[in-house]
Amino acid sequence: MPDKFTVLTPELHRYLVEHGARQDELLRRLAAEMAELGGIAIMQISPEQGALMNLLVRAIGARRALELGTFTGYSAICIARGLPDDGLLVTCDVSEEWASIARRYFEEAGVAERIDLRLGPALDTVRAMPGGEPFDFAFIDADKVGYLDYYEETLRLLRPGGLAMIDNVLRGGRVVEPDLDDEGDRVVLELNERIAADERVEVAMLGVSDGVTLVLRR
Ligand code: DHB
Ligand code: MG
Repeated sequence: MPDKFTVLTPELHRYLVEHGARQDELLRRLAAEMAELGGIAIMQISPEQGALMNLLVRAIGARRALELGTFTGYSAICIARGLPDDGLLVTCDVSEEWASIARRYFEEAGVAERIDLRLGPALDTVRAMPGGEPFDFAFIDADKVGYLDYYEETLRLLRPGGLAMIDNVLRGGRVVEPDLDDEGDRVVLELNERIAADERVEVAMLGVSDGVTLVLRR
């Protein structure tokens, strides 16, 4: 095996989800409900990514978490389940339609009291936040065009030693062959370059799902 990575086939992916993701009945049901809506389900995180997020939130003992891009709540539930009973997740989305599905599952998962779901553009939500009550964990997954701003605002709101995960950093593999007419591709490419050289953070880009970058604020 000359390469330092194992390319995932659908069978290998199924194997790792079955052995390492512990997707419970509620998350399975949420994923199935999204799958019924068709292609939009692509925006939902994968089970193994949810497991990773839950584990990271617990590992750093996070009490306050921030999420940009709630969609229908799968990732928020994975984060919130890793928080203590008196922990807080602030999550935001522009879609009332998605948020209403998310709220339903937050209630059912028993994490609704830990989640503050704010409707509106992610940038408005984070810009309105004072830096005085920093977050321990953040997940950036809203519209890709806003990623440069989301990254800067997130770093401002993250405590030293705080951890952020950025979703979709491989853009379906297009980072090595970008569609320069696609603003999302251009912005994510730019952000990846900036993070690689950003002295404020430790960085690890992982080939999980569509690629996630972990940054630890120094
Ligand atoms: C899209 C957005 C996401 O956050 C994602 O994980 C996958 C796809 C999209 O906008 O297509
Ligand atoms: Mg995403």
